[in-house]
Amino acid sequence: MNTKGIILAGGSGSRLYPTTAVFSKQLQPIYDKPLIYYPLATLMLAGIREILIISTPQDTPNFERLLGDGSQWGVHIEYKVQAAPKGIAEAFIYGREFIGNDQVCLILGDNVFYGKLDFLREAIQTNEGGTIFGYRVQDPERYGVVEFGEGGQVVSIEEKPQNPKSNYAIPGLYIFTSDVTDIAPDVRPSQRGEVEITEVHSAYLRQNRLKVQLMGRGIAWLDTGTPESMLEASTFIHAIEKRQGTKIACLEEIALQMKFINRETFLKTVHALPKSSYREYCLMIADEMQEDW
Ligand code: TTP
Repeated sequence: MNTKGIILAGGSGSRLYPTTAVFSKQLQPIYDKPLIYYPLATLMLAGIREILIISTPQDTPNFERLLGDGSQWGVHIEYKVQAAPKGIAEAFIYGREFIGNDQVCLILGDNVFYGKLDFLREAIQTNEGGTIFGYRVQDPERYGVVEFGEGGQVVSIEEKPQNPKSNYAIPGLYIFTSDVTDIAPDVRPSQRGEVEITEVHSAYLRQNRLKVQLMGRGIAWLDTGTPESMLEASTFIHAIEKRQGTKIACLEEIALQMKFINRETFLKTVHALPKSSYREYCLMIADEMQEDW
């Protein structure tokens, strides 16, 4: 089954004001590259090559300037404007035409994942309705939370509960079959006026078509919605990159690794980059991987 990807990169970013007064959250840096590079890298590493980016009327042109049509990385990127930040589930309303009859993987533009992504590739292969993930956190009340029954089955999903029934939060990474485009328009806005993604999960749960897969400790899930979490994410990326001499979410490297582009396109893209540590890194990759080509 073909799987398409959506990055939801709008929102108001109010918790990051005044940083987000002019540019959206997903254009801000996480250490050495814009935040949106990280979710885009996750989709590419999952093997997804058709990607829709949904953002605000003001920011969509900036994303277009930053990422273009994706051909430099061997992917196809389209853009769609969300008129107002009325909820995550709106991704499937704005994305209806793009999704068509394909399966879709939605990632929130401010979610950073680091670690071996085999779990995601496998989830994409085996999804039969909705697949979401459970990740143990210390502060589940900030997120959608999964309640498990005694046999480990999912009993309920609650959005930002005051009294969370477990420590398992739902990261902003979801896989749905194409009928999500019929389910999302039926969701009524919540008290805070948003079309909640948890309502979409609950709809699949009622139909017995929802799988919740736990994401193990080997995966780091960082969200970047507050100044503190943004700094923590930057520090995390910096520590790993510095120690290993590698880059996380270098899109040129990933495109080459995934064989989305050949050596010729890679070198053409890299030579056109401004002189920077990012370019130096790509040139080093070109040297190191020479024998494989
Ligand atoms: P949130 O963190 O829930 O909201 P926000 O980014 O607007 O920030 P704040 O709460 O500080 O005002 O959004 C999660 C992600 O989803 C983020 O990448 C923005 C995106 N989003 C949209 O693109 N459209 C929407 O309608 C909503 C609610 C979120």
